[in-house]
Amino acid sequence: MKVDILLGLQWGDEGKGKVVDVLTPRYDIVARFQGGPNAGHTLEFDGHKVVLRSIPSGVFQGNINIIGNGVVLDPVLFAGEAKDLEATGLDLHRVLKVSRKAHLILPTHRLLDAANEAAKGKGKIGTTGKGIGPTYTDKISRNGLRVGDLEAADFDERLAAATARHIDTIKALGGSVDTDQLNSLIATWKDAVAYLLTYDIIDTEHYINHALVEGKKVLCEGAQGTMLDVDFGSYPFVTSSNTVAAGACTGLGIAPGRVGDVYGIFKAYCTRVGSGPFPTELFDEDGKRMRDIGHEYGAVTGRERRCGWIDLVALRYAVMINGVTRLIMMKSDVLDTFATIKACTAYRIGESVTRDFPFSLDTPGNEPTPIYEELPGWNCDLTQATSPEQFPEAFKKYIAFIEKELGVPVTIVSVGPDRTQTIELS
Ligand code: GDP
Ligand code: IMO
Ligand code: MG
Repeated sequence: MKVDILLGLQWGDEGKGKVVDVLTPRYDIVARFQGGPNAGHTLEFDGHKVVLRSIPSGVFQGNINIIGNGVVLDPVLFAGEAKDLEATGLDLHRVLKVSRKAHLILPTHRLLDAANEAAKGKGKIGTTGKGIGPTYTDKISRNGLRVGDLEAADFDERLAAATARHIDTIKALGGSVDTDQLNSLIATWKDAVAYLLTYDIIDTEHYINHALVEGKKVLCEGAQGTMLDVDFGSYPFVTSSNTVAAGACTGLGIAPGRVGDVYGIFKAYCTRVGSGPFPTELFDEDGKRMRDIGHEYGAVTGRERRCGWIDLVALRYAVMINGVTRLIMMKSDVLDTFATIKACTAYRIGESVTRDFPFSLDTPGNEPTPIYEELPGWNCDLTQATSPEQFPEAFKKYIAFIEKELGVPVTIVSVGPDRTQTIELS
């Protein structure tokens, strides 16, 4: 069997959690392949709203869910999230498996994240403060501690060595560490580790590949979005992992030839949280309306999301890098009351016009100016639609326009946050 991958094409928060939950009944296994508790994946069903950070979005439908080796895991946040789910009656121990190779976020990683940001001053990334960058830094510099290491006899010594090294770095960055506070954080962290170890900690790469040989169907769930990818995003204002389709191969141990469909999710407009360039950002009434109607506030940090028109230059690039085979358009209903809708089809950079995503979006003097095409709005309530036949003509034209620009069919359209507000086109 092949695996399918579902990932964000913009700057995150496209609605991945909702769609993974919707697609889950078609799969046997759902697997997160990168990121950590910087993610906030929202699911709404049966009148409930749940935000998942480290736990895959397929846990509510009885399937096996996997936290893959590419994920960075904070035992404290994991325990909080998992216990909340258990309190609802969900038998998480039955459905969840965790990779031995996933890297651990230590208390000092979070402190380092804050120290790095403070040291960057005005140039700060605006991270989620969850220790993501420092944990991946330790992974790549071969200093990380993994979930499987928790079973090692010398784990405490290794934790102490990592903590001491982090404290030195924090001090070098001009920060300080309160010893009592840190000891208390470490004690809480160790309690959470004991809880984490009650889960099935396995070699998930073997598990997934055996399942594929047996004909099981696997959906890989991405976190963040392509514009936040450490290689292809708006570097350095990105996260520290590969959010693109290739990340599913390294983050789960899946061979490239095993990749089947790649579902690319985007909003009918565009948002971004944190710092960094955003060519189609709106600072006017339209942007404010998108934020208000779309409730564009971070699921994890509560921060205001910056809003703007859809950017087809960036999306075209994301489709190319990920090999997207099916597009999923989210939050279409948010544009219901806009008389005119704009779509950026090209950038003007200096004297030239390009449809290709450039090396940098924020080279001083060479910042792209979006070139827009205007389309008529549909001016009706999409949230009640249950089939594509009910779509107004103007909305059908918007979808067709995007398909033509991106060269890939839109196969699912979302018209509201609830599981049921999801319409398949083909
Ligand atoms: P994720 O990180 O990609 O899973 O997305 P988030 O959960 O961070 O943000 C998406 C937000 O939009 C959540 O609050 C969802 O409940 C909401 N949402 C998802 N799809 C739709 C939709 O089609 N319409 C509206 N109005 N809200 C949606
Ligand atoms: P989901 O999975 C939106 C952003 C942060 C910051 C940058 C780096 O919910 O779509 P980090 O903490 O990763 O070092 O922050 O990336 N960011 C996200 N923005 N959605 C996310 O996840 C994000 N995860 C990180 O705001 O700009
Ligand atoms: Mg989110």
